Amino acid sequence: PAGFQGRDILTLLDYTGDELTQLLEFAEQLKKAPYQPDMLQGKSLGMIFENASTRTRVSFEVGMTQLGGHALFLSPRDMQIGRGEPIKDTGHVLSRFLDAIMIRTNSHEMVEELASYAEVPVINALTDLYHPCQALADILTVKEQKGSLEGLKVTFVGDGNNVAHSLMIICAKLGMDAALAVPKGYEPDENVWKEIEAVAEEKGTKVELTHSPKEAVKEADVIYTDVWASMGYEEEQGDREKAFEGFQVSEELCSHAKEDFIFLHCLPAHRGEEVTSEIIDGAHSFVYDQAENRLHAQKAMLAAVIGG
Ligand code: CP
Ligand code: NVA
Repeated sequence: PAGFQGRDILTLLDYTGDELTQLLEFAEQLKKAPYQPDMLQGKSLGMIFENASTRTRVSFEVGMTQLGGHALFLSPRDMQIGRGEPIKDTGHVLSRFLDAIMIRTNSHEMVEELASYAEVPVINALTDLYHPCQALADILTVKEQKGSLEGLKVTFVGDGNNVAHSLMIICAKLGMDAALAVPKGYEPDENVWKEIEAVAEEKGTKVELTHSPKEAVKEADVIYTDVWASMGYEEEQGDREKAFEGFQVSEELCSHAKEDFIFLHCLPAHRGEEVTSEIIDGAHSFVYDQAENRLHAQKAMLAAVIGG
């Protein structure tokens, strides 16, 4: 698709609903015909991982290979940036070698800063605030299972975190209603929530923030959850287990949703915490399709922003 070349993918807020639909359609095409060795022939993606990853790392690396390009795994532990080299110099220098930079790190601010210096597209592979690559794969999965996105309600139950933020953003952008149920004290970031509300208002969709999981899952077509303690919050695990009591996605909770609801989780998951094994391993769950769709969605993003 045209109009994407050279652009960063940091939050999805700067993409229109129409552009996101184009990326979804492109991902669907690539899923049908995965091997496109001419598309990014000779192109290189640098992948900076400050935090652990299974899906993101493997899907980006394999995605580049399938498009005829190459991906380099870069650990800040081995790079000069880990020894204090300025982000500015890192951004400019990497841009002289690479065709795009993918980065996973806690600080969203740092990623914005890197993107401001880099002359090539920067793709956010998870920060404390956003997980845009996940969100595109999530909606690709919803579209596959539901046929169309029209009139759907998507509910997230759990921590008002990065994954929840990006899911709410993409739902509003694409015209879907969304609900977010979080325990008191685990609300989404105030500024991000304002951005979500603004998109929903512009698109004329509903977006609801509640402390009642039962209320949120009412009439839901999609029920989504994520870990209670994200990377960097592991030491809060005990406190969070108490705070999130009643927020487990169970058969009882899901009985308030539409009968044909689908269950999604970005993974990794903790069975018996945020979700029961009956649900995540049951007939409503599409978490492995969802994981696979990371590959197809990201290939669409890479080919679109790197361009040929
Ligand atoms: N969902 C996700 O981003 O998984 P990884 O942490 O394994 O990349
Ligand atoms: N919210 C989780 C997502 C992991 C893919 C985290 O930030 O650790």
